[in-house]
Amino acid sequence: MARAEPTARAKRRAAVLISGRGSNLQAVIESCRRPGASASIALVVSNVPGARGLEHAKAAGIATRVIDHRAFGGRREFEEALDEALDASAIELVCLAGFMRVVSPWFVERWRDRLLNIHPSLLPAFPGLDTHRRALEAGVRLHGCTVHFVRAELDAGPIVVQGAVPVRPDDTAESLAARVLEVEHRCYPLALELVASGRARVVGERVVVEGASSPDALLINPRA
Ligand code: GRF
Repeated sequence: MARAEPTARAKRRAAVLISGRGSNLQAVIESCRRPGASASIALVVSNVPGARGLEHAKAAGIATRVIDHRAFGGRREFEEALDEALDASAIELVCLAGFMRVVSPWFVERWRDRLLNIHPSLLPAFPGLDTHRRALEAGVRLHGCTVHFVRAELDAGPIVVQGAVPVRPDDTAESLAARVLEVEHRCYPLALELVASGRARVVGERVVVEGASSPDALLINPRA
């Protein structure tokens, strides 16, 4: 008698919200295609018509929606439309990836512990915009990115994954941004997998990751 195939665990349906280039979107699309991935990207929403990232979604055969915030009377109406689109696609997890709208406490609570963001700094350092220039001005030796659960406070919330890079003496904001972006493209897929698989959970406003170890390597900068 033929043995029944073990039933594959259903993937968590994730949406990615973008406003622009969509390189992090592309990184999560690729990682979710891998066999055994715990999430599938079921919807991409842009608040900016014609955002470049929409092309990545279309090329991957993923449903897209443009919900232009300018078409709504206020933030609440815009977010209600967003929320309806997410529900209509039975979305379970939402990833903000270069989504240039501040989300309200209402939306944050609605998606509490199911809403991730990537920020281009080692939070809690440098919340807000222009992080690479500010990191250079502050003279930090290490910089990086953070994937975190979203809370009502800007660029704050339980941290899932961080990736660090050295800052070099000849760095410009652009060269530093490019080095951080490379690490972003590794951190977001990892964070999404940890959350979608249930290995990363929020416990008392910190994230506990089951069965994960930490690297032994130290990143010390500069080398003399
Ligand atoms: C990334 O640097 C991300 O950390 C920040 O916005 C940028 C988006 O880039 N929140 P992309 O659209 O994913 O290429």
